[in-house]
Amino acid sequence: MPDNSQWYLLGTAGVVIWSVIYLTRSEKPLDRIPPACPEEHGFFKFRSKKSTLQMLKDGYHTHITRTFKVPEAGTWRVFLNTPALIDEMSKMPEMSLTESSNEMILMDTTLYPYAPPHEVSSLLSRVIRVSLSQNMDAILPGIMDEVKASFNDMLGEKVATEWVSVPAAQSMIKAIARVTNRVTIGLPLCREEEVVNGSIKFTTTVFLTGFAVSFLPHSLKRPFAKLVLGWAGVRERLEKYVWPVVEERLEAVRVHGKDWEGLPPDVLTWVIQDVPDHNLTAKYISQVLIGMNFAAVHTSSMTLTHAIFQLAVEGDKYLPELRQEAETILSSEGYTKTSLNKLVKMDSFFKEILRFHGVGGTRKPDFPSRRPTVSPQRMTTGDVTLSDGTFLPRGTLVGGNVIQIHSNEQFYPHAAEFDGFRYVEDGKTTGGSLITTSPTFLTFGHGKQACPGRFFANFELKAMLAHLILNYDIKMDGPAVRPENVQFRYGVAPHRTAKVMFRKIAA
Ligand SMILES: *[C@@H]1O[C@H](CO)[C@@H](O)[C@H](O)[C@H]1NC(C)=O
Ligand SMILES: *[C@@H]1O[C@H](CO)[C@@H](O)[C@H](O)[C@H]1NC(C)=O
Repeated sequence: MPDNSQWYLLGTAGVVIWSVIYLTRSEKPLDRIPPACPEEHGFFKFRSKKSTLQMLKDGYHTHITRTFKVPEAGTWRVFLNTPALIDEMSKMPEMSLTESSNEMILMDTTLYPYAPPHEVSSLLSRVIRVSLSQNMDAILPGIMDEVKASFNDMLGEKVATEWVSVPAAQSMIKAIARVTNRVTIGLPLCREEEVVNGSIKFTTTVFLTGFAVSFLPHSLKRPFAKLVLGWAGVRERLEKYVWPVVEERLEAVRVHGKDWEGLPPDVLTWVIQDVPDHNLTAKYISQVLIGMNFAAVHTSSMTLTHAIFQLAVEGDKYLPELRQEAETILSSEGYTKTSLNKLVKMDSFFKEILRFHGVGGTRKPDFPSRRPTVSPQRMTTGDVTLSDGTFLPRGTLVGGNVIQIHSNEQFYPHAAEFDGFRYVEDGKTTGGSLITTSPTFLTFGHGKQACPGRFFANFELKAMLAHLILNYDIKMDGPAVRPENVQFRYGVAPHRTAKVMFRKIAA
């Protein structure tokens, strides 16, 4: 990837051009919605003295039952404060997640250049919700094989007799990238180092590109994004590996048909089965696989890293019970869809991780690429008036004030405390499982457009954590203090470099 100074240069050029445009325009359709901080009006609203998290907090306490706006890269995002308003938003057909993402990361240019984004998004969503879920038992042996191989490669042989230290975030993202790719394109490509690296870098580059062009006038954004992405070259490097595999599978389909039993059970097969014949090209198919990577790798690896930190610091509190549960259920039933769904304590633990540590964003928090990650986030595709009277013209970015709702005592008693078994009572899940969204549990969004990947993430995360805790002891490399999260815009990520230690449990 090019070094950061070039990105700054590009950003600066963008700011200058954008400023000229801004100064010459007059229409301000969101004037009637109060800003989170009244002093944050005007020209430099994209650069604020206050952190976005602080603004969300201030806005919440000042406008508790209403909406307010927060500056975002040359425009505003309107935040909804109450679960009721968020519920309302998630049910409105004029509130589009795809349009919001398209605005922020230019999906049609960066992510899905070969087809309309909404078409690929809904295809991917179908494949994950239907095919992947239905075939979970068929793919779990492969997932477990990849989980074991990843952790073996990561920890080496010494781990059998001594503590081995690894950087948590970097190690978990590699493991997640391998496991995810095992499910999308399979062996041997999922272990190819350049593919693993590429699928990690691609996401970061897309977010960086989105940021770099965000200050440009609308008509220049896409040409610039294309230029920047082509210059970074990450998509080409991934495609170089993925295309031949897709071609080979397409050839098998041409010879044997789409329903041939010899097709491996993986995302590639299911995508091919879903795509109409006239769209069966390597280009079209591979962008779907890359899209799944984009959505799955960083989000899940941040969640797993948070969980590892929590266990490395509070092992005494959580490990015995989590281990006992996993051992009891998995030693007799093995890793299946049904058995993993019985891990209610682990389910609760992960849900609390998501409530407490949020999720989202790029893994480059040291760079001002802090593109917001709000869930749920939407963009209006028509004029909308909310039940509290707020008027949102077409094209308004909207978001739920999730951080504040997740830390509200009214919905979560002793909200400031991490309570890993908060959602389990007498061996049963209470108040919704990890994958149940609600107007008060919003990490995956809510409503029809909620993250479809959560069904896969649910199994992937549980399988990986179960394998880890059944085979290894975990502690921090250094004092048993939770490494500080990195905050950027609306997002929270785990510490980037903190190390954890693993040691094989004596047989
Ligand atoms: C992959 O990334 C790591 C750093 O995370 C680097 O050390 C390694 O050389 C890279 N491998 C390839 C093949 O690019
Ligand atoms: C997919 O098929 C449609 C026609 O149904 C066509 O308009 C579109 O260009 C095709 N896309 C690709 C990438 O082949």
